[in-house]
Amino acid sequence: MRTLWSHGEQRPAEVLAEEWGASFAFDVRLLPYDVRGSIAHARMLGATGIIQPTEADRIIAGLEEILREWEANPSAPITEYEDVHTYVEARLTEKIGETARKLHTARSRNDQVALDARLFVKDAVAGIQAALRQCQRVLVERAEELADVILPGYTHLQHAQPISLGHHMLAYFWMLERDFQRFSGARERADWMPLGAGALAGTTFPIDRQRVARELGFARVAPNSLDAVSDRDFVIEFVSAGALTMMHLSRLCEELILWTSREFGFVCLEDAFTTGSSMMPQKRNPDLAELIRGKSGRVYGDLVALLTLMKGLPLTYNKDMQEDKEALFDTADTVRGCLTVMAAMLRGARFQLDRLQAATRGDFSTATDLADYLVRQGLPFRDAHDVARRIVMDCLGQGRALEDLSLAELQSYSPLFGEDALAEVSPERSAARRTSEGGTAPERVRDQITLARETLGA
Ligand code: ARG
Repeated sequence: MRTLWSHGEQRPAEVLAEEWGASFAFDVRLLPYDVRGSIAHARMLGATGIIQPTEADRIIAGLEEILREWEANPSAPITEYEDVHTYVEARLTEKIGETARKLHTARSRNDQVALDARLFVKDAVAGIQAALRQCQRVLVERAEELADVILPGYTHLQHAQPISLGHHMLAYFWMLERDFQRFSGARERADWMPLGAGALAGTTFPIDRQRVARELGFARVAPNSLDAVSDRDFVIEFVSAGALTMMHLSRLCEELILWTSREFGFVCLEDAFTTGSSMMPQKRNPDLAELIRGKSGRVYGDLVALLTLMKGLPLTYNKDMQEDKEALFDTADTVRGCLTVMAAMLRGARFQLDRLQAATRGDFSTATDLADYLVRQGLPFRDAHDVARRIVMDCLGQGRALEDLSLAELQSYSPLFGEDALAEVSPERSAARRTSEGGTAPERVRDQITLARETLGA
């Protein structure tokens, strides 16, 4: 292991400790951010006369070369360096010699790593938000196509009332919309520029933090050097937004998994997203949906790891914080990947219209409509509920459905039932009548689609 300050042969204990303390294997991923941050820092050092402008130019040229090399081949070089910051500086020394040793003036790895992580989070938010939008667009398209398809809506996983399948799709649209907003909030608070905090207390050099912030595209400069090097709220917020997104995806996956079962049979997923069994020839397993559901656990794990990591740390930087990287990267990759798979899986899902329709027949999901009918005839809702409940109980006892009842039979429960009451048991009509704002009536669903499209800016 090589550090910037090591001299001579190492004892076994040193080798062990340094190997164990190294982060290069994973934080090399921050290399492009580290280099961009160093370029801005060097330019500032030159412009303020802290180093000679010619020295700054040499440093910047060397760093740009390192960035180009990385972009041409973004795989981790095999090195013995402790972390990405140490590696970049050593590589720069190889390229431009002694001048490289001036780059770290008025800087510490503490403010440097905070900068790199913030730049990473801002980029990761952009990637996830693009994937969220993609998923939302598919949901709106499917909602438009399926607005008039009626299926049982569930509470307690029991048939409750008929709903529009488009309405169901849009429920997820709004979940993802809140996720989008949460990521915007996380990005806003990641947008504080920490460089210039030094190790913790600031620096004796006449640095220009505003200039660095401008060059790197930050909204503002972190106002407290202690907070700047010890804050990881922005990582936790990012992961927390990711955890909620995964929870939403997991719920949708759970429904897709249930709905592909023989018992429901509401949907078929494209073959690409299912697998066969090595033993049972008839199986089509919804593997990808199950994987997304499973991966929600990883992201929750990342969140709990980070909260636990930070809760006992005295100000300011502590090495514990090196442990934030893998959780951060894991969440960024998992959330973005799952959203991408979900969008593709939903786009190709084939809803089984006959099964959806059959599921609303004879399921008593229009019992509320019978009660509502009586309310419109003047009966208090509680009494109307009692009447409808007795009808349902008797039907269940006789193995009959609401659709089977004649007008005379209905009237034996209440004289308020008229000819038009028979139509109340139609699931399509039941859904169509729920025209209250935000309700499931297909015409309201179409209003929602308009709103959703406005939200997407399309
Ligand atoms: N690899 C370290 C991390 O990720 C960089 C900061 C090291 N700073 C220090 N004082 N040891 O946290």
